[in-house]
Amino acid sequence: MRTQQFVLIACLLANLNRDSNAQRGNIITNFFEFLRRGQSDLNIEHVDDGVQLINEYDFIVVGAGTAGCALAARLSENPAWKVLLIEAGGPENMGMDIPILAHFLQLTDINWNYRTQPSDKYCLAMNNRRCNWPRGKVMGGSSVLNYMMYTRGNRRDYDRWAALGNEGWSYRDVLPYFRKYEGSEIPNAEPEFVGRRGPVKIGHPDWRSHISEAFVRAAQEDGLKYRDYNGHIQTGVSYLQATIHKGMRWSSNRAYLYPIKGKRANLHVKKNALVTKVLIDPNTKTAYGVVLSTGGQSYQVRARREVILSAGAINTPQLLMLSGIGPAQHLRDVGIKPIVDLAVGYNLQDHIAPAVSFTTNVSSIRTSDYFEATNIMQYIDGKGLFGLPGAVEAIAFWDLSQPQVEDGWADLEMFQLAGSFEENPATLRAFGIQLDTYNTMYRNVNSDGFMIFPMILRPKSRGRVLLKSNNPFKYPLLHANYFAHPDDLDISVRAVLKTISLLDRPGFKAINARLLERIMPGCAKLPYKSRAYWECYVRHFTYTIYHYCGTAKMGPPTDPAAVVDARLRVYGVKRLRVVDASIMPEIIAGHPNGPVFMIAEKAADMIKQDNNYI
Ligand SMILES: Cc1cc2nc3c(=O)[nH]c(=O)nc-3n(C[C@H](O)[C@H](O)[C@H](O)COP(=O)(O)OP(=O)(O)OC[C@H]3O[C@@H](n4cnc5c(N)ncnc54)[C@H](O)[C@@H]3O)c2cc1C
Ligand SMILES: *[C@@H]1O[C@H](CO)[C@@H](O)[C@H](O)[C@H]1NC(C)=O
Repeated sequence: MRTQQFVLIACLLANLNRDSNAQRGNIITNFFEFLRRGQSDLNIEHVDDGVQLINEYDFIVVGAGTAGCALAARLSENPAWKVLLIEAGGPENMGMDIPILAHFLQLTDINWNYRTQPSDKYCLAMNNRRCNWPRGKVMGGSSVLNYMMYTRGNRRDYDRWAALGNEGWSYRDVLPYFRKYEGSEIPNAEPEFVGRRGPVKIGHPDWRSHISEAFVRAAQEDGLKYRDYNGHIQTGVSYLQATIHKGMRWSSNRAYLYPIKGKRANLHVKKNALVTKVLIDPNTKTAYGVVLSTGGQSYQVRARREVILSAGAINTPQLLMLSGIGPAQHLRDVGIKPIVDLAVGYNLQDHIAPAVSFTTNVSSIRTSDYFEATNIMQYIDGKGLFGLPGAVEAIAFWDLSQPQVEDGWADLEMFQLAGSFEENPATLRAFGIQLDTYNTMYRNVNSDGFMIFPMILRPKSRGRVLLKSNNPFKYPLLHANYFAHPDDLDISVRAVLKTISLLDRPGFKAINARLLERIMPGCAKLPYKSRAYWECYVRHFTYTIYHYCGTAKMGPPTDPAAVVDARLRVYGVKRLRVVDASIMPEIIAGHPNGPVFMIAEKAADMIKQDNNYI
């Protein structure tokens, strides 16, 4: 039994003392029925662990995350192609489908558990001054660990990619791919922009607190329009659009692989197998397969047509470098013979949000709600509070550089949570917050609380992924470099101040929303709420929103930092592509799970074209 199921069952058992016998019986029957139904959906294995892989495939896709599942499903539409999808993690289970439990997943073994290198500039409130950087290690990858917040970003993000020299990536070009994967159930979505029939379900959670109503109102009073932020204008406020359906997480695995379960003899899925190297002929510089490690054994599998890396923005650059593709001097330093000298691992980008905590006189989500029979019962019908992704309810996009413009290019996003970190103890470990800081900042509040995360959308700082060694089982070194560019510190402080300023709006006054006045340990010498104090605060609460990307940058041949071209082919190596968040030349102004689906859908078409299938 996995942790999450255990948590739910523990909730259930905790309830037994409080309910009548009849209720208990009902709850347990329904709950286990629910578990069983969930489980029967799960086994999508085409190749059981232990079943023989064949020696050669047409395509090998490395990593069954957001991009990898989509890509494998699309490529195997051609029955003549044999496709192998390789995933380091194991199967999904139903506990992972429960949106409210998202925080807990990071504490389980489906998380790679990466951490940034220590810094004296950021993540100062975290243990050893290192931020946790969770990543999914499971069928579905980070789409199983994520908070399901669904955003496309701004149309100018893609026009910017095109302007950097990447043909075919303007918003006009990529819009059909967004619409292709979207199976949106958002009622007021703009018809010319939304996709309704694609595999990735998108909907509003059906549960709302009074806090979210106040947030949406306050943002409107501040000048934002209520709108579909995935339509033609991004700046505005809205209840959350999420990759959920009937209260369940809609992972890439569920969207793309469940529907073809047992129907594609030409698709093999190998789980619990780590790819340790891409095989490249050093003379012809052609990729011809991979080495994978499973059950303590190492195997070679060959690819007739292409090897495609969809291992995510940390593992893809690691794997490229392990295979001899990367900065030549760095590779030599760790004992790897360079085959192609490319800027792999540079251009690392992420979004951070220095969360701010508030108190209110209306009800927020409390730990005890997880133990409420009514909540569990409602969830068995796919409804209620358990369907709220990590307690996130509403979202707003601001362009602070031109607040008067209705159609802005957002540089700040705020998202609102219906609870506090005190009421969600998993957050202490998930973020790796120092215990004394956690206690000082979050505990013993004695009031309902909520949080707003002001997320910096267009950071200028760039980090780097480096190999620690040539051993593929060792984790790479992650240098986040947050605030390396002074503008990022500046806008982080303005973002916090902007967030607090919303308290003056009638919407928030009506729920008596107040700043939780706590002084950050480590910033106590600075005048409270001065600019210097807030700078110190954001350097302490440098919460990652987990959007690492850019480490195998897409760019034209004239760009010395480019790793792949606009058709996502690795420069200097034949038959090798990267299809995942690594290719983003610049991070998009939103959450990247949707954009990564778009990248995979577009890549699938390019690969089909280049191999004369369409
Ligand atoms: C905690 C968390 C919360 C997030 N919240 C949101 C959100 O609310 N909204 C949003 O839009 N985005 C969110 N994101 C980001 C989003 O989920 C990712 O950007 C997206 O999933 C990246 O997709 P990918 O295909 O690039 O990589 P991944 O989905 O990470 O897939 C990579 C896969 O490759 C596998 N793999 C890696 N190396 C190897 C190897 N050597 N051999 C075999 N397999 C390998 C991994 O196990 C993994 O399954 C969140 C991410 C996290 C971690
Ligand atoms: C919360 O406080 C506001 C402002 O003081 C007040 O108008 C409102 O009635 C209060 N609501 C509740 C539920 O107590």
